[in-house]
Amino acid sequence: MIIALDGPAASGKGTLAKRIADHFGFHHLDTGLLYRAIARDVRAIDGSLDNVDDTSKAARNLDQSTLDDPTLRHPGLGNAASVVAQVPSVRAILLEFQLKFASQAPGAVLDGRDIGTIVCPEADVKLFIVADTKVRAERRFLELEKRGEAVTREQILETITERDKRDMERADSPMKPAADALLLDTTKLGIDETFDAAIELIKRKIGQPGAQRY
Ligand code: C5P
Repeated sequence: MIIALDGPAASGKGTLAKRIADHFGFHHLDTGLLYRAIARDVRAIDGSLDNVDDTSKAARNLDQSTLDDPTLRHPGLGNAASVVAQVPSVRAILLEFQLKFASQAPGAVLDGRDIGTIVCPEADVKLFIVADTKVRAERRFLELEKRGEAVTREQILETITERDKRDMERADSPMKPAADALLLDTTKLGIDETFDAAIELIKRKIGQPGAQRY
């Protein structure tokens, strides 16, 4: 069983994906971390984020045991990751890893930008998580403020907008909902409400009895 969760920056899909995976006892992969890790590794060798050789080498040498490195969540790396993510050979190298991850029993939840369209087009359930840009920026701001990061609301809004644009407009695997994705708008929903709504959508999709209309 594969559950694909896609959506723009700071839409809350990472937190949601982890909760869904825990709920069903499935494996979870935040695929954004792969691109973030490559950006980190390219920077570490003073490489260039849009250079095919530098980025492909970092993708081939990616040490999966470093994916829990907390610095990967740093806001600056999100933007750098979206530059790296434009390189087709990087995407091709990461695709193999993601496919292997997705095939694990009893199931896997993957979140990213192209899971429902490119990585797992045969996923059993595809959710595309959206929320008003200002609301996403505010949530991300509060999260970073809590972690003691020196950022402003304006900076966050600007980076998120720029990143979404780059992710939507790139030639290879742009961010978009799969034709059969279920849209979940979390603009007015809290974390628990979002989780409940997602579980309802999943139950309905896989035809479990007792699912209510959301
Ligand atoms: O999800 P997160 O914000 O950590 O992703 C960082 C960047 O990695 C995204 O802005 C996007 O450019 C890239 N990405 C991608 N495809 C994925 C996951 C992330 O292109 N499946």
